[in-house]
Amino acid sequence: MIKKKLHQSYIVAIASGKGGVGKSLVTINTAEKLVQLGYRVAVVDADLGLSNCAALLNESIPGTVMDVRKGKAGIDEVMLKTEGGFTLVTGADEPDAEAMDWSVLYPTLDAILRKLRLENDFILIDTPAGASDLSFWALDRADMGMLVVVGEPTAISDVYRFCKFVLEVDPTYPFTAVVNFADGEEDAQNVLKRFNTIVRHFMNREFPYLGFIPMDENVRKSVSDQIPFVRSIPEHQVSKEVEYIASALIGLSKKNTVLKPA
Ligand SMILES: Nc1ncnc2c1ncn2[C@@H]1O[C@H](COP(=O)(O)OP(=O)(O)OP(=O)(O)O)[C@@H](O)[C@H]1O
Ligand SMILES: [Mg+2]
Repeated sequence: MIKKKLHQSYIVAIASGKGGVGKSLVTINTAEKLVQLGYRVAVVDADLGLSNCAALLNESIPGTVMDVRKGKAGIDEVMLKTEGGFTLVTGADEPDAEAMDWSVLYPTLDAILRKLRLENDFILIDTPAGASDLSFWALDRADMGMLVVVGEPTAISDVYRFCKFVLEVDPTYPFTAVVNFADGEEDAQNVLKRFNTIVRHFMNREFPYLGFIPMDENVRKSVSDQIPFVRSIPEHQVSKEVEYIASALIGLSKKNTVLKPA
């Protein structure tokens, strides 16, 4: 396949207020869909100590960013080419006493990101849930923060508090949102409308809607089968919805400034 090439790589941080909302699934399926569409893609699993992208893909981790930091592996050795065609870099695959403060990894993560930028059109960073330092590292390096939003009131208030924290530092930060566990397009739009009502009221912002993932048994099955659903059931509606999200990212990457308010 002829690989398409963007002028520069577009970095997306996938973030949420709450855990278990589907960040990792959105990350790996979007990454694999972008590869299917002809782009060069890397995923950085920055959920340090609790990484699970490799497990969702049934891939074994050749080494981690932590190993590079400790001099146990070279940068190239931790760049795993996955069966789906994207490169996966895992930050740390288990909690590490030395790294109670994960900021020791920032210089190594930055060095890896610099290398990935030379070789990829898209870099997706899967972040830990909530307002951790690692989430802020990722948002700071990203061109855009893609929030995974779900409809429960507690989840909406968690993601609101997360964004508020970021927007207090940078009121123009370019966030977008995808809705997971939706009953359908209308339900997803309603969830985002509720979220945006709060964001508009308190922060005078609105976050563009990028798409949704339906609540679907096949998504759960893809986790136990360890195969991304965009690969196992590419024609199914869940995979089509990921294709919409991937297409939206492609659109945004081509006009990289459009999300920033004037
Ligand atoms: N659209 C969906 N339909 C059905 N089940 C889903 C859907 N999205 C996610 N799940 C379920 O939710 C679980 C959590 O998803 P995932 O691991 O991607 O969340 P996460 O936000 O990355 O979690 P963490 O914060 O722990 O990293 C999955 O294992 C799957 O069982
Ligand atoms: Mg995760």
